[in-house]
Formats: sequence, C-alpha cells, structure tokens
Amino acid sequence: MTRATAVHPDLRPPQPLDATPGQWCLDPGIAFLNHGCFGARTRAVVEAQDQRRREFEARPIEFLGRGRGPLIDRAKEAVARLLGARARDLGFVTNATGGINAVLRSLHLKAGDELLTTTHVYNAVRQSMRFVAGRCGGTYREVHVPLPLRSRQAIVDAVAGALGPATRLLVIDHVTSPTAIVMPVREIIAAAEARGIDVLVDGAHAPGMLDLSIEALAPAYYAGNLHKWVSAPPGTGFLWVRPDRQNDIHPLTISHHYGEGLAAEFAWQGTRDISGWLSCPDAMAYFERLGWERVRRHNHQLATWAHAHLCQGLGVEPASPLDGSLLGSMATVALPGEAQRFGSPEALQAVLYDRHQIEVPVLKWSERWWTRVSCHVYNRPEEYDRLADALIEELKRTRP
Ligand SMILES: Cc1ncc(COP(=O)(O)O)c(C=O)c1O
Repeated sequence: MTRATAVHPDLRPPQPLDATPGQWCLDPGIAFLNHGCFGARTRAVVEAQDQRRREFEARPIEFLGRGRGPLIDRAKEAVARLLGARARDLGFVTNATGGINAVLRSLHLKAGDELLTTTHVYNAVRQSMRFVAGRCGGTYREVHVPLPLRSRQAIVDAVAGALGPATRLLVIDHVTSPTAIVMPVREIIAAAEARGIDVLVDGAHAPGMLDLSIEALAPAYYAGNLHKWVSAPPGTGFLWVRPDRQNDIHPLTISHHYGEGLAAEFAWQGTRDISGWLSCPDAMAYFERLGWERVRRHNHQLATWAHAHLCQGLGVEPASPLDGSLLGSMATVALPGEAQRFGSPEALQAVLYDRHQIEVPVLKWSERWWTRVSCHVYNRPEEYDRLADALIEELKRTRP
C-alpha cells in the first residue's frame, strides 16, 4: 500500500511525543502493535522494580513485615489519584482476572440468579462467570451487541434491554478486548442501578488509556490492570469496591486480616513479591512527565487514524465510527474473508511475526477474523503502514 498519511482529509496521525522508543525495553526490530495484551515497560520501571527486590532481599522482615503497610499505602495513594478514587476503597491484586474473581467468588448467589455480560466479554472472564453461575444453579448469559456500531446509544439500548428480573450482576467491559470498543459505562451503570442491579466494570484496559473517575462512575465494583496502559510491572492490578459493598468482598486468598475491611484484607494475601505494586508510581512518573492528557490524546489520535487507514487499505467496513468516538488507544479492524485461508488466526499471526516482524493479534470474533492494533507513545504511523503492506502481501500470496 502506498504511504497514505491522510486517509481522510481530516484524519492525520499525531506528531510523535518526545518519548524516544529507546527508553522502552522493546526490541526495536519488531513493530510492536500489541501493547494491549501484556503492556510493555520502560527501562526505568524495570530498574525501579529490581531496586525494590534488592531492598527486600537485604532486609526481608523490615521490608515485607514492618514496612509493608506504609509502602503499599503510598503506592495506593498514587494509583488512586490516577483512578479518581480513594486509596482506602481499593486493594492491589495480581491482575484484572484476579480482581474479577474476587468479586464473583464472594457473591452469595442462589439458584436462578443470572450473571449477565455482552458478547464482547474477555474469555477468561466468561469462564469465571460460567464457573460461578454453574456452581450455584445460576445462569450465565451474553447479550449480543453486533458490529458495526454506529453510536453509544445503540450499545446502551442493547445492554439495558437485556437486563431482566433474575439479573443479579452485570459485568461490562470499560474497553472491550476483542473489539476495542470504549463502552458507555456511565449510562449502562445508571440503567442497571435504576433496576437495582449491581455492575462490575472490567476496566482491564482503562487506567492510562481513559481519563478515569471511578468514584464518579460509582459502579458496585471496578477491577483493572496497571500492567497494560500504565506500563507498570506485570502482575499489577487493582480492585475498587463501593463502600456499601466492601464488607462482602474478600480477596481470593483469605488470610490473617479476614474481616478487618477491604484495605487490610487485600494488603496481605500471603507471602508474595510486592515489588510490582510498589513500582506503579515509577511507571506513572514517566507519563506524568509527558503529561497524561497529551499521552491519551496522542494514542487516541493514532488509533483513530490507524483504524481508518487500515480499513481503507484492506477495503473493509469499519467496525465503529471513523471519527474514533468509540475508540480509546486501540482499534479492531476486520480482515478480508480470504484471510481465513490461513486456517487459524494464530497461523496468520505467526506469519506476520515470522516474515514481517510485526507483533499484532489476529482473532476470531462473531465468525469473522479481525486484527487489533494498539497505539502507545512509542508507536509510529509507519508501523501501521507496515502492517497494511504485510497483510495485503500475505492475502495476495494465498490467492489460488
Ligand atoms: C477486557 C479484559 N479483561 C480482563 C483481562 C485480563 O487481564 P489479566 O490477564 O491481566 O488478568 C484482559 C486482558 O487482556 C482484558 O482485555
């Protein structure tokens, strides 16, 4: 594909931020378009975590025994400011899956209770919900929200219309994993609350990608990751619980502080390496220097441009409006039908990596194949050109 920097007269890639890719640990030989999966980290964050590990190893009891409380509190204060929440209403967990499981497995469900989500749910969350519903004679249901999406209201209508008398909990993604849609969670929470239904927001992708105020959203529960868009060490997630629900929610590992409240229970989940949680403020410092607002604007503008650019290059219909109004820092693009000649999404993903040095997910959702591109401060428009070129070349190669 020829280098089309402006697919749309109004759509342009952003000017790169002053964020030299060399500050990141990523291999510069790979076009890394999959930040959304496990995130990626700067060298400074890796060093900060190493330093904390050395401090622990030098004085294990002082660090993890006597020092743990104030150390965790300080890290939580910084994270809470980013999330628009109070530190006392959240606990660190290893990942969003763990935070979501803590909620699901703390619920007292009875036979017939329904756990509801959408067809955009992350598969690990689907499995957790199925397990918990199945164990107590409850039901698990997904409401289909079809693509292409034209408006926020279409999503609100589909989800609100699916709430029923048996719905006990609605799990809604803030940013969906396979389809990269930013869900109108505020309106959805309002619709569910109006019917007395609790909402658990899966915010795995939201911190760092969206300007968050969890306290203003005020769902019953909000779980998220810091190892994705905050680029904190792997194994850093959190669970926020609204004060009126906190007495009922416990970590997956119940330990000494059972019954002492959310903050105390989550601050000790057995002996573990807490260096990742403590390094979250170091990860945030990098983006604070660049300015969170600038980072978010850059990433969103790049995602909006890449979305339109790839749809045009591949000749496919966009899954969401081209103005980017339903996107954050990722975009999911349909692949032409001939992509399926590769046999499996994993096979095409491997070809892109092995032959073209592009790391990007290829996935199946609702019978179609898609690719999802992530856009962070180290990404450049040429990398999306490279992906379009590679896909066009590979699809041509498979023609009989
Ligand atoms: C929407 C969503 N929820 C949950 C998760 C799970 O994240 P983790 O593996 O860190 O628990 C992911 C991971 O990509 C996700 O995209």
